[in-house]
Amino acid sequence: MSKNIRRYLIAGNWKMNKTASEGTALVREIHHEIGHQSDVGAVVCPPFTALESCAKALEGSTVQLGAQNMYPKSEGAYTGEVSPLMLRSLFCTYVILGHSERREYFKESDAFINEKVVAALDSSLKPILCVGETLEQREADETTTVVETQLAGGLKGITADQAENVVIAYEPVWAIGTGKTATPDMAQEVHGFIRKWLEGNFGEAAASKMRILYGGSMKPANARDLLAKEDIDGGLIGGASLQAKSFVELVTIARSLV
Ligand code: PGA
Repeated sequence: MSKNIRRYLIAGNWKMNKTASEGTALVREIHHEIGHQSDVGAVVCPPFTALESCAKALEGSTVQLGAQNMYPKSEGAYTGEVSPLMLRSLFCTYVILGHSERREYFKESDAFINEKVVAALDSSLKPILCVGETLEQREADETTTVVETQLAGGLKGITADQAENVVIAYEPVWAIGTGKTATPDMAQEVHGFIRKWLEGNFGEAAASKMRILYGGSMKPANARDLLAKEDIDGGLIGGASLQAKSFVELVTIARSLV
């Protein structure tokens, strides 16, 4: 099945960076450069506090908005949390779920992440579900077992129709923010495994439409070789998404491969 049926997606994960005014300035620049193209998908995921001002700055733009997390209930006594409906009302289309930083620092389990995936889909938000192994797990040859467990846990109860709206991000934990990227071949090996797993669970038609992003020190210098791989459909970008120049360059590289 050809890769052409999937549109590349370049997603910026700003993490805990940028105030509302800094974020607005950044998205204005991004919009100015690539806000009218639709060859590839581009999405920025600011912190909650910058979502509203970024949404306003992106009115009429093809650049979409995502959040970095959410709580899997529509409302109620959950002090400090933010619901899928609140994100929808700020024009979010995507939500990053199960990032390794949340798994590690906030002890998020696959079962909890699964609740969020289900709640996001119920509210028409597209989950970007992150999976990936630590260095110890890779060295112990556990990469595929870990990834499979995270996929099975995170996507439990999801139908094939729903799965088409889920984006998977393969992010080897040892490559995040470290400057160490998986080689294109190493990444493709895991992406190929993920595609097969998706086929086995949701059927070939759904799996061929699902995007699998690579994340972990992706930047303009290494993006082309990664994005050229058969099962790499985009990137989840941390560090390089914090400056308009590098984020725009990544989108431009993806466009050149279409
Ligand atoms: P990085 O982060 O690009 O800074 O490695 C990626 C991520 O954590 O999503």
